[in-house]
Amino acid sequence: MAKARAKPQEKQKQTKKVENHGERKLTEAQIAVHWKEEEYFQPSAKFIGQANLIDPAMVEKFSEKHFPECFREYAELLHWDQYWHTTLDTSEPPFWKWFVGGKLNACYNCVDRHLEKHKNKAALIFVPEPELESATVITYQELYRRVNEVAAMLRDFAKLKTGDRVTIHMPMIPELPITMLACARLGVVHSVVFGGFSGEACGMRAADSGSRVLIYADGYFRNGKWVDHKGSADIAVQTAEKEGQHIDKVLVWRRHSGKYNSESPMIMKRDYFVDEILKDYRGHIVEPVSMDAEAPLFLMYTSGTTGKPKGCQHRTGGYLAYVTGTSQYYQDIHPSDVYWCMADIGWITGHSYIVYGPMALAATSVLYEGVPQFPDAGRPWRIAERLDVNIFHTSPTAIRMLRKAGGDEPKKYNYHFKHMTTVGEPIEPEVWKWYHQVVGKGEAVIVDTWWQTETGGFLCTTKPALDPMKPGSAGPAALGIYPVIWDENGNEVTAGSGNAGNICIRNPWPGIMQTIWGDPQRFVNQYYKKYNKHPHSKDWRDWPYYAADGAVLPADGYYRILGRVDDVINVAGHRLGTKELESACLTISEIAEAAVVPVVDEVKGRVPEVYVSLKPGIPPSKAVQDKIMSTIETMIGKIARPKKIHMVPDMPKTRSGKIMRRVLAAISNNLDTGDITTLANPDIVAQIRELVQGRGVGPLKDGPEDIKRFGEET
Ligand code: WTA
Repeated sequence: MAKARAKPQEKQKQTKKVENHGERKLTEAQIAVHWKEEEYFQPSAKFIGQANLIDPAMVEKFSEKHFPECFREYAELLHWDQYWHTTLDTSEPPFWKWFVGGKLNACYNCVDRHLEKHKNKAALIFVPEPELESATVITYQELYRRVNEVAAMLRDFAKLKTGDRVTIHMPMIPELPITMLACARLGVVHSVVFGGFSGEACGMRAADSGSRVLIYADGYFRNGKWVDHKGSADIAVQTAEKEGQHIDKVLVWRRHSGKYNSESPMIMKRDYFVDEILKDYRGHIVEPVSMDAEAPLFLMYTSGTTGKPKGCQHRTGGYLAYVTGTSQYYQDIHPSDVYWCMADIGWITGHSYIVYGPMALAATSVLYEGVPQFPDAGRPWRIAERLDVNIFHTSPTAIRMLRKAGGDEPKKYNYHFKHMTTVGEPIEPEVWKWYHQVVGKGEAVIVDTWWQTETGGFLCTTKPALDPMKPGSAGPAALGIYPVIWDENGNEVTAGSGNAGNICIRNPWPGIMQTIWGDPQRFVNQYYKKYNKHPHSKDWRDWPYYAADGAVLPADGYYRILGRVDDVINVAGHRLGTKELESACLTISEIAEAAVVPVVDEVKGRVPEVYVSLKPGIPPSKAVQDKIMSTIETMIGKIARPKKIHMVPDMPKTRSGKIMRRVLAAISNNLDTGDITTLANPDIVAQIRELVQGRGVGPLKDGPEDIKRFGEET
């Protein structure tokens, strides 16, 4: 694999202590990176012949000298009730305002405006996990009706008003996007919590957002089993109440209309079946509320460096313009395409590139309920064949899984993708090549899109018809995005230098989040403080966005993303905060200290491992281990299950008492722990290593950059 490499000894020289000895001028982030350069792949003439983005002059059009007006190009893809007067208002950095004065409705843009030309076209095709259940097609006409009825119910029955927040904890069923669009129609701010998160996690988020209505589903199919989901609503309500947020209504969609499939009792005057209530709203039409461009559209909670997930607040106008523009140009969506993004709508990828972007373009968007390899690794390709999917979008973890479970399966099915996306984690070049040759049958163009929950849409990706592809590299910046890589001291790491650093975006763009819900100071501190030199400046050039990802830039200008440099672990493309897991462990009375580190996993990319030390007098036991596992599942969800739990006599600590997670990460990944002489308790390191790896440790390996840098940040 083309891997970023730095000699372990070199790593030591990067610490400030060694630097002070004058041995070397390397800063912490200037880590030498060497990897084999990959060859380019070209898009086919057939793809280029039909692509949306074929004019090379667009690059110039979106160059810095045309910023910010270049983004009119994206905004003009939308219907505006009232045109904006100021494209970008920078008067209150870094709280940028986009398309100020403009008014629009996101639901109108994704539904109503398509009726004239596309009312009979499939808007959503829902594919249930049980293969014998046939797909459900919802046309734009039907979607229009259903969204209106739900909007009427939310307004008149649940008494939700423009600006209220509502928490939606639902699986991948069509009622999820229908509910989101109904909220958008009213200007109600939706906060969708990934279905796999626990009730407690949902309740915490509901409380933070101030939601008094929860929207649920009774259950869903996953991996061949029925998952009873409604029970988590009861926990969510209790958790929210404990946090001081009263929930007065729980609206429950039934996966099979009219049939309730959950053990959890319906609570009188709190829980209601949506299908029953909707009978009163048949045929109701709700005028879309004309929203300010800057009005919040939704919140999406994501993990960061502190224990509490933060609510990324996305605006209506800028966000919708950005996801529509990037769906048009980078996803190459035409109304005639059948587009399938396998992400879950509960993550940002689903919001931007299943719901808002594609639907603003009148695409046919496929929604699959279950896991890709159910009942076997041929399932995605059977779906693609049957629905004639021609644009496919997934993550490296799913690609690795499908490759492992059935590397030859795609060859058995007669489907043809013109375009494929990979997103969420770095993809290994050999996995990329399998995706290209086998899944894409050598015909499909691939975009490797790098971005984040916070950024709303793509930041780096190749332009599918214009740029050659390079396996393992996201590619150049997206139109109108001006990245830079800096070291810890703010020195630019130049293209072709071979060094890694922190990738930042120098300019604002319409898709960037507005703020962290209820915590604007944290927004500034987290994303802008690091490289801001003039806190009073009103010039956007003084406010680069810090992404917390490591990256390298070779001379060709193709960014290669190395992974998170903060306390976030990217598990199968999903962000988990190590602090969230640690806080969960610390609620267990036997535990004195906890530290969570990432380990490399062949399929999921990274998975968490937990280290705990127990309170005096408490011996390590299977019971404590089980308690840790179940606590993490209850407080966060199954996706956070650690791979291993280590009960250690003590944690490696600095003299000031800080747990050295970097040392633990090195042990878990069988890497060199580096210089440990400055620790308060250096002897513990060998003890822990023996405990974790047993005697006769094999040769130490070299590791990926994110693991080696893990825990460096304070
Ligand atoms: C990582 C998902 C490499 C990165 C859209 C980022 C990637 C985090 C890529 C955001 C990619 C996302 N190549 N790494 N193409 N895309 N990442 O917020 O570390 O769930 O910071 O958004 O995923 O994850 P999030």
